[in-house]
Amino acid sequence: MQMDIFTLLPGVFAPYLDASILARAAKNDLIDVRVHDIRAFTTDRHHVCDDTPYGGGGGMVMKPEPVFTALESVLGSPPACKVVLMTPQGRVLTQQLAYEYAALPRLAILCGRYEGIDERIREHIVTDEISIGDYVLTGGELPALIFIDVISRLLPGVLGDPDGASDDSHASGLIEYPHYTRPQVFRGWRVPDVLQSGNHAEISRWRRQQSLMRTQARRPDMLLKADLTDTDRAYLRSINPEADPDLSKKNET
Ligand code: ADE
Repeated sequence: MQMDIFTLLPGVFAPYLDASILARAAKNDLIDVRVHDIRAFTTDRHHVCDDTPYGGGGGMVMKPEPVFTALESVLGSPPACKVVLMTPQGRVLTQQLAYEYAALPRLAILCGRYEGIDERIREHIVTDEISIGDYVLTGGELPALIFIDVISRLLPGVLGDPDGASDDSHASGLIEYPHYTRPQVFRGWRVPDVLQSGNHAEISRWRRQQSLMRTQARRPDMLLKADLTDTDRAYLRSINPEADPDLSKKNET
């Protein structure tokens, strides 16, 4: 998958991309992340990319000309792929959304800076707007890295384990079960016996129940959308019949 990043801080991407699992993904041609410096597309002597807002007020606004020139020079006009703006005003990124973007062959990501971007960028060249959560960062670069990371690890071959992403918290609509590795006893704390039993059916059942229990305790909202079997619902009722009236309503239907 090709990802074209448009930013005023091109230097922040390589340190992460070159150090993580994504470096191997790039080496194996599974992802091709290209970082474009918006400032390089300015035509004035001082390479100005921001200006004061019409109507007054504080802060600076990202100018439209360098952004349009950058996007159109690299992606064509109109752009050959989706142009995603990282912004706290966008749709909040979820695992489900990540799967949708991971299915695309190419994606452009625009990182906002300053107090905002000229609205004409948003109206006439951006196709999608994504937020990584309900908080505001100083720019879209960290959100873009998160977006790239979330998408990349879903691409076939990026994780060593082919099932690597399917057990994740959120992949199934539930929080993931707990993991243990050696030693069997650490400071007196034992690994649960079931995990050493060799009984794969029992292990699967225990893990599913742990996921359900954790999700009910930490993110009961997720249970309303999760794909639950009758066995799952019976288990949830057995551990906490009162926990969620909506869930018991859902069980009756
Ligand atoms: N830019 C600033 N804050 C952001 C957020 N929460 N998500 C995406 N882009 C942003």
